[in-house]
Amino acid sequence: MRVLIIGCGYVGLPLGAELARRGHEVVGVRRSPEGAEELLAAGITPVVADVTRPETFAPLSGAFDWVVNAVSSTKGGASEYRAVYLEGTRHLLDWLAAHPPQKYVHLSSTSVYGQMDGEVVNEIAAAAPTGETSQLLVATEQLLLTAASEREFPAVILRAAGIYGPTRGHLFQQFLRNEARIAGDGTRVMNMIHRDDLVGAIIAALERGRRGEIYNAADDESVSQLEFFRWLAAKLGKPLPPFATEVENAARKRGLTNKRVANDKLKTELGYAFKYPTFREGYASEIARMRLL
Ligand SMILES: NC(=O)c1ccc[n+]([C@@H]2O[C@H](COP(=O)([O-])OP(=O)(O)OC[C@H]3O[C@@H](n4cnc5c(N)ncnc54)[C@H](OP(=O)(O)O)[C@@H]3O)[C@@H](O)[C@H]2O)c1
Repeated sequence: MRVLIIGCGYVGLPLGAELARRGHEVVGVRRSPEGAEELLAAGITPVVADVTRPETFAPLSGAFDWVVNAVSSTKGGASEYRAVYLEGTRHLLDWLAAHPPQKYVHLSSTSVYGQMDGEVVNEIAAAAPTGETSQLLVATEQLLLTAASEREFPAVILRAAGIYGPTRGHLFQQFLRNEARIAGDGTRVMNMIHRDDLVGAIIAALERGRRGEIYNAADDESVSQLEFFRWLAAKLGKPLPPFATEVENAARKRGLTNKRVANDKLKTELGYAFKYPTFREGYASEIARMRLL
C-alpha cells in the first residue's frame, strides 16, 4: 500500500516505521524539514506540509491507499484545536476529494467522553464534553462521519486514551521527579494505552476498520490514580506521593472526567490483541528499558 501519515510525531513516526518494515511505501508529513533524517532512517519519505495551510499540500503528489491523521495541536488552546483538527481535517477532506484513499484513520481522543461518575463508556455512549477543546474534537469527528455517510468517504475514527511509553506518561514522569501529587481522594480513574499498542490499533483500523465506525483505543484496565501510584511506589521502592492540597485540587478541577473506557469493539471487531494489556505490563517494560540506559 502507499500510505500517507500526516503528523510524524510520537505516534506517527513508529507507525510509519512499522508500516515500512511490513513493506508498505510510507510518506510522512511534518511542518518543518527538521528531523527528516529520523524519518528517512525509519524508511519514511519525509514531506513538509501543514494541514492548516492547504496550499502547502502541493508536494504530496499522487494518490494514497491509506491515510492516517496523527497531527497534534501540541497542547494549544481552542484556537489551535480549531485550526489543526477541525479546519485541518476540512482541508484534508477537500484535498482528498480528488483522489480518495481506501481507508482514512483519524486519531481522536477519549476526552470526547465527558462522563464524570466513573461509568463504563463504549462507542455509543454520549460524546458530550464540557470543555471547548474536546468539543472541537467531537466536531472534527462529526465532519468525518458526515463525509462517511453522505459520500462514502472511508473514515474510521480511533479514540485514543492517554498515551504512554518511552519518555512519555505525565504522572509517571512526575512520580520519577518526586513531583507527583494524588488529586482529590485519588479515586478518579484514568484510561491509558501504550504507544506500541496504539500503533497496532491504527494498523488494525487501516486493515479492518469499517467506514464511519468509531473504535475506542484504551487498554484493558482503567485505574484510579491512587492504585496507579501504589503500584509504581511498590515497583520502584519509593514512597507514595502526598495528596494534593485544596488549592492544587481547585486549580486542576476544570474539565476533569471520570470514566472507564471500554475496548471490546477494538478487540472483537478489529481482532486487536494487546502487547501491553494494562499499564502494569507497559510500565514494567518501560522501567526495565530505563534501567538498561
Ligand atoms: N498524547 C496523548 O495522550 C493523546 C491522547 C489521545 C489522543 N491523542 C492524539 O494522538 C495524536 C498523536 O499524538 P502524538 O503524541 O503523536 O503527537 P506529537 O508527538 O505532538 O506529534 C504530532 C505530529 O504532528 C505534526 N504536526 C503538528 N501540527 C501539524 C500541522 N499543522 N500540519 C502537519 N503536521 C503537524 C508534528 O510535527 P511538527 O511539529 O514537526 O510539524 C508532529 O510530527 C494526536 O492527534 C493527539 O491529539 C494523544
